[in-house]
Amino acid sequence: MKVAIIGGTGYVGLITGLGLALHGHDIICMDTDTRKIAALNNRELPIYEDGLAELLKEATDRNKVFFTNCLQTAVNKSEIIMIAVGTPESTNGETDLSHLIQALKLVANLMDSYRTIVIKSTVPVGTCDLARTIIKDNLKNRFIPFDIVSNPEFLREGNAVRDFLNPDRIVIGVDNPESAVIMKELYQTFKVPIVLTDTRSAEMVKYACNAYLATRISFINEIAEISEKVNADIHAILESMKLDKRIGGLYLNPGPGFGGPCLTKDLKSLISFASKAKAELPLFKAVLERNEVQINNIIKFVISELKDIRGQKITVLGLSFKAGTNDTRNSPALHLLEKLIDPKIRIHVYDPVVKSIEEPLNSRVSFSKSIEEAVRNTDCLIVMTEWPEFKELDLETVYHLMRNPLIVDTRNIFPYNKALSLGFRYKGIGIGIGIACADNSNGTLKNII
Ligand code: UGA
Repeated sequence: MKVAIIGGTGYVGLITGLGLALHGHDIICMDTDTRKIAALNNRELPIYEDGLAELLKEATDRNKVFFTNCLQTAVNKSEIIMIAVGTPESTNGETDLSHLIQALKLVANLMDSYRTIVIKSTVPVGTCDLARTIIKDNLKNRFIPFDIVSNPEFLREGNAVRDFLNPDRIVIGVDNPESAVIMKELYQTFKVPIVLTDTRSAEMVKYACNAYLATRISFINEIAEISEKVNADIHAILESMKLDKRIGGLYLNPGPGFGGPCLTKDLKSLISFASKAKAELPLFKAVLERNEVQINNIIKFVISELKDIRGQKITVLGLSFKAGTNDTRNSPALHLLEKLIDPKIRIHVYDPVVKSIEEPLNSRVSFSKSIEEAVRNTDCLIVMTEWPEFKELDLETVYHLMRNPLIVDTRNIFPYNKALSLGFRYKGIGIGIGIACADNSNGTLKNII
């Protein structure tokens, strides 16, 4: 099928376009960002994402994708128009739909015959109805049939290519059976369940999923905090919880709180549009509040451990909001830096892919070229993301490089008992400081059992 993706160089748009191209469709990725279009035409990627370079090569080698900044070409040469423009958070927590509205108006002006218009961007419930009105109004007196479809995405950064190619399910919201037939044809080569529903329910699915994932993370972070206080071990707790089939093991890793451009934004948006619908959502407000507590607890701990922070060197490993991406939007690491920066301390940072951050933070920290340089003579090492190269660090070497052997491991990536035995003062998330884990690394307890 011929598909145009508006916002086709963005995260969701590009992966969707290239993924559909791999499934044999003819894709036009359209974007107003001429720099990114030029880069993609040179086979250069505007974003860092595992597996995307291979996908781009495959799609371009097969001649299945075309990049343009001409909306007219995109509209004229496609049967399906997918809109994947950004829907950022506006100041009051609402979703800013201005890019989407603008795209819909322009598409309506250019349409000359039937089109299926698919909303991929994450949008508040009811936006498909709004889209229908916008298209109708902007067609003016021309009678051109069209359908609006909701088709939310569930891509995780760092895993987005795999998520697109092997989804758990595809959700399609339609208000007309004919567009359901078209959408099923688009996805017919994906051998996964297709959930067909109305547009409002499809829009809501996305919020329900992100709210649930965020709730699990805040839940486990709260259990971790209690565990620290009562000297219980989060590893053992998790091991047991994960074996309960009703609970399962995913999205239960305690950490510095959820970050990134989606979970927080979507929860705020959900709370905002629910409030307009007269639903107050106390649970989701608490999930967001709990998330703030996480970074504050880490800061409190560091300050209390270092006592007099004057002249101390603090090292932060990891700047993106999680491993596998260079995205620093709403990154817990950046929130930590914002609160930690003080003229009295020196902060050194290292990240395998992020080599600069937003100002004014960028000029207030020193970027180290290597982990070794970052940890040399440091008084406190804070690990903020779970990059494999951090996990593989030789703790003994780190111990000898540091001036004061204090580690704050917000992702629980290091073998806890080994760190203790080397002489580190070591804080993970969900284990009382200095308390040896029951599930210890040499497996003594397991062997006894
Ligand atoms: C999230 C959802 O997982 C996707 O399904 C959704 O499509 C996407 O938002 C979106 O709305 O576009 P993403 O934000 O890329 O994806 O990343 P996640 O892997 O979900 O991680 C979000 C945050 O939660 C990260 O800061 C991560 O470190 C944290 N996290 C995740 C934990 O602290 N513990 C966990 O167990 C899992």
